[in-house]
Parts: sequence; C-alpha cells; structure tokens
Amino acid sequence: MTPLALFPLLYSVSVFPLTYTVVSSITTPALLVAKVCTLQNSFQPSFVADGDYVIGGIFPLHYNQEMPDLNSTYRPPPVKCNGFDPRAFRWAQTMRLAVEEINQSPRLLPNYTLGYKIFDSCAYPLTGQRAALAVLNGLSEGNSPMCSSVSPLLAVIGESGSAQSIVVSRILQPFRIPMISYFSSCACLTDRRKYPTFFRVIPNDDYQVKMLVRFNWTWVGLVRGDHEYGRFAVQGLMKELQGTKTVKYQNPAYRDYKNLVMRSSSAKVVVVFSAEGEMTPFLRDYMVQNITGIQWVASEAWVTASVFTGNEYYPYLGGTIGFGIRKGHISKLSDYLQTVNPKRYPDNLLVQELWEALYGCSPSSSSGSQMPPCSGQESLLEQHSAYMNTSSPRVAYNVYKAVYAIAHSLHNLFLCQPGSGIILKIFLYVTFNIDGEEVDFDLKGDSIPYYDIINWQRGTGGNIEFVNVGLFDGTKPVGEELVIQEDRIMWAGHQSEVPVSVCSASCFPGSRKAVRRGEPVCCFDCVPCDNGKISNQTNSIECTFCPEDFWSNKDRTACIPKKVEYLTFDSLGIALTVISVLGACLTLAVFAVFFYHRNTAIVRVNNSELSFFILFALTLCFLCSLVFIGKPTSWSCMLRHTAFSITFSLCISCILGKTLVVLAAFTATRPGANIMKWLGIKQQRGIIFSCTLVQLVICAAWLIDAPPSPSRNTKYERSKIILECSVGSSLAFWCVLGYIGLQACLCFILAFLARKLPGNFNEAKFITFSMLIFCAVWLAFIPAYISAPGNYADAVESFAILASSFGLLFCLFAPKCYIIVLKPEKNTKQHLMGKEKK
Ligand code: TRP
Repeated sequence: MTPLALFPLLYSVSVFPLTYTVVSSITTPALLVAKVCTLQNSFQPSFVADGDYVIGGIFPLHYNQEMPDLNSTYRPPPVKCNGFDPRAFRWAQTMRLAVEEINQSPRLLPNYTLGYKIFDSCAYPLTGQRAALAVLNGLSEGNSPMCSSVSPLLAVIGESGSAQSIVVSRILQPFRIPMISYFSSCACLTDRRKYPTFFRVIPNDDYQVKMLVRFNWTWVGLVRGDHEYGRFAVQGLMKELQGTKTVKYQNPAYRDYKNLVMRSSSAKVVVVFSAEGEMTPFLRDYMVQNITGIQWVASEAWVTASVFTGNEYYPYLGGTIGFGIRKGHISKLSDYLQTVNPKRYPDNLLVQELWEALYGCSPSSSSGSQMPPCSGQESLLEQHSAYMNTSSPRVAYNVYKAVYAIAHSLHNLFLCQPGSGIILKIFLYVTFNIDGEEVDFDLKGDSIPYYDIINWQRGTGGNIEFVNVGLFDGTKPVGEELVIQEDRIMWAGHQSEVPVSVCSASCFPGSRKAVRRGEPVCCFDCVPCDNGKISNQTNSIECTFCPEDFWSNKDRTACIPKKVEYLTFDSLGIALTVISVLGACLTLAVFAVFFYHRNTAIVRVNNSELSFFILFALTLCFLCSLVFIGKPTSWSCMLRHTAFSITFSLCISCILGKTLVVLAAFTATRPGANIMKWLGIKQQRGIIFSCTLVQLVICAAWLIDAPPSPSRNTKYERSKIILECSVGSSLAFWCVLGYIGLQACLCFILAFLARKLPGNFNEAKFITFSMLIFCAVWLAFIPAYISAPGNYADAVESFAILASSFGLLFCLFAPKCYIIVLKPEKNTKQHLMGKEKK
C-alpha cells in the first residue's frame, strides 16, 4: 500500500484504542494535541445490538462498490456500494439469529448476553478494512467519549472472500482479537505466523485441489479470479500436479481466456476458482459467443450459486460438477428470515434494498428510488430463493457455527477449561455439537474438511438443480475419504461418460509421442515409427528397432521376418531361362547345319574344327546364364563366375585362333611367307588350350583363395534380405573379366588388320564386327553391374552373357548359314575365293 493510501485510513480511525492520538500530517494541529477521543468515523453498522460481549460481523452485503476517492486532502466520503446481495444478507441474519438463540439459551453463557455489530464490506478489501476498523471502534462519540464503558469485542465473524479476510486479519492481529471466517478458504490463510488470530469454519482449498487431481484429467482449462483465492488455488493445483501432469491455465483476464482457451483449446474441462459475482459477466459473454461442450468444474465459491439456476443457463452450465461445503440444518432460520421486513426496520436501508431486490418495488417513499412503491408487508416466500433459500444452508450454516464457536469458547473460558487465558487459545480446543455435527478446529485454525460433490442436473422445469452425487469426508481414513456415485452424475452435454479432456489424443500403436517444445508433457504429436521400427502399445514414447532379420510390418505394430529375395523363376527368371535355352538351341541348330554341310566349301574353308569348338563353347555360354537363376548356394556361387569365364575364354580363344588362321592364310599367299606351316591343327589346338588354361588358372586361384559364396545383403534395402553371391575376391573377379576383355581386344585388333584382305568371304570382317559387339556389351555391363541393386546384378550379368553370346552367334554364323541354307549356289570354292567367272 502506498503511504498516500494509508492516510485516509488513519484519519477515519481517529481513535486507535491504544494510542489515543492520531498521527497524520493532514489533520489539524488541534487534533494532534487532543486528549479526548474524537471519532471521525462515519461508517455505520448495518445491524447492531448491545450485550455484555460484542461480536463483530463483516459480510459482503453488496457485490461491489465505486472506487473511493483517495485524494487524502479531505475527509473521505461515505462508501458507495452497488448491487445488493440477498444471499449475504441472509448470512448476516443468520448471525443475528445465532446470537439471539445463545442469549436465550439457559445452558450456553447463561449469565451473559452477546451483542453484535454487523458491517458491510461491499466485497471489497479496502472497505473490509474500514469495516474491521469500525468494528474495533465504538459506535459514535456520544456513545463512549473516553472509549470506556464499551462492551469488549470478543471476536469478529468474517470475512467472506479470502482477499478481504487477509486485510481484516491484519487489522485485528495487533489487538489479538480472533476472527472466524465462514467462507475464506484460501490455503494461504493457514499460515499461523502471518495470521495467528485467523480461524475458519470452512476447509482449506488444498482439499479441493487434491480432489481435482483424482478425476484424472490431464489437460484442463483454468479460470481464476484475480485475487488471493484464485491465485493460491491455481498455485496449489500446479504444485499438486508437478512432475505428473500439467495444466494449462489462463490468466484471469477473461478476455484472453475467451479468445485463447475456450475457442481453440482441446481442454474440454474447465476448472473455475472464482465467485459467482465475478462469474456472471464472464458467463454472459460465454453464452453470447455460444460456446458449448465445456465441462465446468466449480469451486466451492460458486457451486451452489442460485443465480445460475435459470433455464437459460442449462445448455451452457448443465453437468457442472463441483465441491459444495458442508450443509447443515438451522431449524429456526426460515421463520427468522421472514421476520425481517421494512415495517419492522423502517430506518434500515438494507432491508429496503432487500425489498427492492426481491419485489422490484420500494417500500419507502423517502429513499428516492425509481421503483414503484409497495407496502413493505409483502410476505417472503420460498420463491425468493436468493434470500429465502433455507433448505440446505451452507455458508449460512458456517456463520451459525462460527457464532456458536465463539460462544462455546467464551463459555469454556468462564469454566476455566484447558488453555484458559486468552480466548485465542480456547478456540483451538473448542469442540461442540451442532445438528449432529461435531465442530472443532485443527491446530492451524482450519476446520475438518467435508465436502458434498454437487452436480448440476436438469430440473423438472428445465432449470438447474443441484444434485448430491458424492462426498468427501476428511475424518475417514486416507483413500476412503472420497465417495462418488458416478452413475448418478450427468456430465456436460447430457452425457453419462466422463468427458475426455486431453491436450493430444492418444498415439496408436505404430506411432510414438513427440513432445512439443515448450509445451506441457501431455501435449504431443504422434509420429509414425520409422521403417524397421515398431511400437506395439498406445502412447509409446519410443519406437523400438526390430531384431536383425526382422522388419516392421506396414502398420509398424509388429516385426515380421524380412523377405528373402534372389533371382528366381519369376517373370525375369523365366525370361532369362527362355532366352538362354533358345540361344542354346539355336547354337545347336547351327551346329547341326554345319555338321550336315561339313563337306561344303564354306564350312571347310572356314576351318570346320574351330567352328565346331566355337559353337560348342557358345552353347555352354548360353547355358551358363542359367546358373545365375535360383537360390544361391556355395556351389552355384562358385560355378557362376568360373563357368562363365571359362566358357567365354574358350570361345574367344577359338575365335582368336580363327583370326590368326585367317591372317596367316592370306599372308601365306604372298611370296616368301610360310606361316601356314606354323599354324597347323595342332598349333591351333595348342593356342586354344593355353589361352583357356590361363583363365582356368586364374579361376582355380580364385576358388582356392577366396571363392565366391552366398551372402545376405541387407544394406541395399534394409527391409529385405537379398541373397546374392559375393565375389569373394574382387581382384580375381576383375582379373577374370579383364582377361576375357584382353582376349577380345586382341582378337579385335588382329581381325581389324585382316579385314581388308581379298576374297569374297573374308571372315575377319565378321570377327571384327562380333568383337565390336562383344566389347560394347561388356563395356555397358560394367556400370550396369556395379549400380544394379542386389539380385538384379545377377540378372544384368546373365543378360550380358546372353547378349554377347547372341552377338557372337549371329555375327559369326548368320552369314554362313545364310549361304549354306539359302544360297547353296554360292557355296563353292571359286565363289569364296572371288575367282568365280561372271
Ligand atoms: N472461498 C472463497 C474465498 O475464499 C469464497 C469467496 C467469497 C470469494 N467471496 C468471494 C471468492 C469473492 C472470490 C471472490 O475467497
């Protein structure tokens, strides 16, 4: 509080009972030296009665007040309060009733009378403070000029809101005057060091908070009023949820709340720690915006607010659940309330306001109100529920208990019961019985918790009815305190299921939670598991890797064995088989043709033995590609490359031999050269054999050192196991291919040299051509082989084998077959030598 704000208070409390003087720079010098009490206070009690002992009462008889002028240069004007609250008025009447009952009781305080001074705090802390000071002071100067002969103030009953109670408690504390609150539940007031004189007949909010946690909602919206009550409740909730769950809460600025949480939030459960007075404008906005589907959870402050029971509220507030403080029975209350009317209290402004609020008419002509006049003798009935609701008093019952607690304490004090001395201590030990309920305080001045679980259900007239669906009894052993009859609860939207309020819906198996940065743990995204990982539970935090040889299924919910793939007799395998068999058959057919015509010129000229060798090797080449199909075994792996390389080597050696022969035959015709002598059948065989032998040696070394073997390749595609033959030694593999390449190049060069030699049927041309094709095929093969994935590498190799074999077969034998079969007339030595006469 700023010093400026303090001045008017000192001013208005001109009589501090203990000091007699007022220290204020703005008061007149005369006042500073005054030795008599000069009561400057104009704050008058709403109800007052004298007695041997006086109890103060502070009630929020109005909802709010106009901000007082704190200028401090003149005497503060009287407080102007707005919005008469019949409910609080009823509480005040209950206090009067209790005092009167005690005064009439022959057993409780038989020789003493109690008096009361009831003030209006206008639900405003500053006015509550004024009221507290007014309670401390005498009523007027005339009453007690020397501050003597005033009945001692026993205790103060008040205040309603915790924010006001805190202020009042601080005022009363120096005087050691106890106060008992009937509605202030803030956990902050439990602090004995800060509020040593504070007692209450309402449980502390920690219990409500603990109950909220038991509903197992992980994501709720929170609305709180901007006062200690709201702040501490939210703080308590946060503390309670720490580490386990998180609540997103919105600052009390309602405008923010509306825009942010209600409209867009997935939190369908909204907990409200606020009083009905401040809730009303907020709810009106909420209804105008037509937002529905919110499950409200009401704090004790508004769970039994009769202002919200109208039909129009049902669609928005139906299903609300909350914690109602203990109700009791006050047998004489209804009758007592009915005795209050303007006729009986003609000077009491509050009674007139009650009439204005209940009947909409003004019982007094002098009040200057715009309402139509009425007699003031109208009878109070049940339907004036804001005031006459006496069927299950809760707060009023607390007021009643508080008065009795004070009376019993005083009674005990007179009897010299334990802790005698100051009444403060007596409070801690007082126990008594009202309406079958044992009332006592714990060592912190709190009362033993008891709550009704209240559910807002539709009444017969479409209005809202408060239905009891359970209770919380703090006297029961831990774990048994809360009893809820879930089947009796009607949730928001007329549902019988507990509403779901989560920030993010559960993640299904096959996905995992991914917490959003900077957001509470219950807010997450669901990320599908990666390939090869699975999660088989809802809300998994992690996806787990599948074991080796296993892979995730399509939904990522289970690991299944990986698919094993190899070149098999599927469409590709069948195509390869057909082509290779076809090639082999074709070669055999050529073989047959040659064999049949082995005595004709063209066969004989072209060195029939070498031709047969070539055809034989080619047949093997074609068949070689078959070894690449089927599941790789250690035998088939070894066979694959060796068989292919040896047959090809054989084939090209034969062609090389042939080239040499052609070259030799033609150069031999030149004078002086007798090369043919060096290239007889034996030599030819020798060349073929030795050339093939080199390849055989390489292959043997390969097989001995690091033979190709079947291997499981999981690198290329992790979801599959590709069965392939690893080459073992890649050096050997490239040597084998290199050797074939070398032979082919050599052959090509020789044939190229011989291509222009005379004669109609110069084979060198065809050999050149065939080698060209052969080299082209294998040059294309290398990059294709290296880049082909897994099992396709095998297919690429077999296709290369088939293509080159076909190339050789066609280039070398097609022209000859053409002549043999279709142009037999050209199949003569003369024609072949180009010496045929035209
Ligand atoms: N239990 C609430 C409190 O301790 C009750 C209450 C009474 C209240 N008047 C209020 C809450 C005004 C907020 C505002 O404060």
